[in-house]
Amino acid sequence: MDRKRIRTTLVPAVTAALALASGAVALTTVSPAQALENGVARTPPMGWNSWNTFGCNINESLIRQMADAIVNSGLRDLGYQYVVVDDCWFNPNRDSSGNIQGDPSRFPSGMKALGDYLHNKGLKFGIYQVPVDKTCAQYFNSYPGATGSQGHEAQDARQFAAWGVDYLKYDWCSPNGTINDQVATFAKMRDALKATGRPIVYSINPNSIHSKTGPQRNWGDVANMWRTTEDITNKWDTGQTNGYPMGIQNIVNVTVPLASYAGPGHFNDPDMMEIGRGGMNDTEMRSHFALWAMMASPLIAGNDIRSMDSATQTILKNKNLIAINQDSLGLQATQVSNDGTRRVLAKKLANGDVAVALFNQGGSTTTVSTTTSAIGKSGGTVTLTDAWTNATSTTSGTISASVPAHGTVVYRVSSPGSSPSASPSASPSASPSASPSASPSASPSASPSASPSTSPVPGGCSATIKTINSWGGGFQSEVTVQAGSSAVNGWTVKWTWPGGQTISSLWNGRQSSSGSSVTVTNESYNGSIAAGASTTFGFTANGSAATPTATCTSP
Ligand code: GLA
Repeated sequence: MDRKRIRTTLVPAVTAALALASGAVALTTVSPAQALENGVARTPPMGWNSWNTFGCNINESLIRQMADAIVNSGLRDLGYQYVVVDDCWFNPNRDSSGNIQGDPSRFPSGMKALGDYLHNKGLKFGIYQVPVDKTCAQYFNSYPGATGSQGHEAQDARQFAAWGVDYLKYDWCSPNGTINDQVATFAKMRDALKATGRPIVYSINPNSIHSKTGPQRNWGDVANMWRTTEDITNKWDTGQTNGYPMGIQNIVNVTVPLASYAGPGHFNDPDMMEIGRGGMNDTEMRSHFALWAMMASPLIAGNDIRSMDSATQTILKNKNLIAINQDSLGLQATQVSNDGTRRVLAKKLANGDVAVALFNQGGSTTTVSTTTSAIGKSGGTVTLTDAWTNATSTTSGTISASVPAHGTVVYRVSSPGSSPSASPSASPSASPSASPSASPSASPSASPSASPSTSPVPGGCSATIKTINSWGGGFQSEVTVQAGSSAVNGWTVKWTWPGGQTISSLWNGRQSSSGSSVTVTNESYNGSIAAGASTTFGFTANGSAATPTATCTSP
């Protein structure tokens, strides 16, 4: 596709030119804000989106056929509710009052009629728009006009509400703007949607042809879901870290460390699914779904639902994995271990069970193992239910499986007498969140403990380590690097572990270690911190949670 070629070749040049023009890429965090609570997306949204299969080739009869297929295939009743009409649905010109309109040849019955059709089928209506002047297809000259919401936020929000829109995908497709510009601009539409009074899932993407700001902050104050990466493609591994296009393994690498951001009403979005679109073998397709389920990711199918083969149906309709994904605690799996080949994730569930994923990232079959204590289920015999086969087994220690290359085995781990797992609800967005008393004692728990930090001297910086999650045998921490009364240009944070802890993965920083001494320096994008501002990096570690005193130096 032309668009993809342009995107692949031009983007690095554009990004480099911008970086040169601005002298440095200066990104700082904005002041912490409260999570968006608009009542929707209490569990990860599920549905279908037109882009992955159809790109710009959409019209109302296609969308209606897809809606019919979602109902007739049984997907709706499994929770797939939102039908999202992506780019290229609109008239390239606004009307004389500046209102956005559906394209009259593609959607001759109008967008309100489409919304009514979907609602009559028990489905929900999603639509695509951008905060800048051009949609992504307009930016790449594959669709005419410049009909973005810039300057029309309140008017467009009212129009969407009047059409019965239930979900807005809002896509920053531009290399311009700092992360703080993005936060402010995305917040405009958040507030405009709220002002309509209609509950609308707010799904944002800050990464298209832009520096990858999706993983750089917790966007839960702005949106219900936010893309963590550049666009997905139907390949296992494209070799990208976070660039166009992303394979499944590449997206998992970016999104796993962001687990602490997820919760009811706000989820990391690793992009629409590629299941049923070729390009991967069945093991990889299953792994894709299992990992999305474990990461509490929105489950937005991207295949042609009218012509799904049975292997695709088996994957998309796996009730065990849907129940794990739609669990009312809304937690994203945290990483238990990762040796580069064998990666283990655990997700605490509302009835006290823990879902564990044994993921083989390597190229040949291997045994992936963990223990009941590492996932917070120690102290007796537990039952393992295989999410793919329903086979059960028991253990009081080792949890392991022989896993094929790129495969993921998922077990639901239950203590004797635990209440049966909830089956997925047909209206996931309305499911209530579980009471805190449902939490198992040894599962990930927030801890208020934080290391002391010394006051930064002028021109200097300070660092504070805070425990975000902990589980038997490991923990996750966030480190805040705070600039003093002048700006910081580059920083190094050091600490010493008190008792044999080891870092298993670290993000938004570069680590060097020897024995118990840890040194972390900034990445290129978060080295500049304005006076008085801060940035964060995070890590998961093995051992018992600790918050040693960290020192920060800036050259
Ligand atoms: C961007 C988004 C995609 C899709 C296209 C539409 O690339 O990331 O998901 O919406 O725009 O042009």
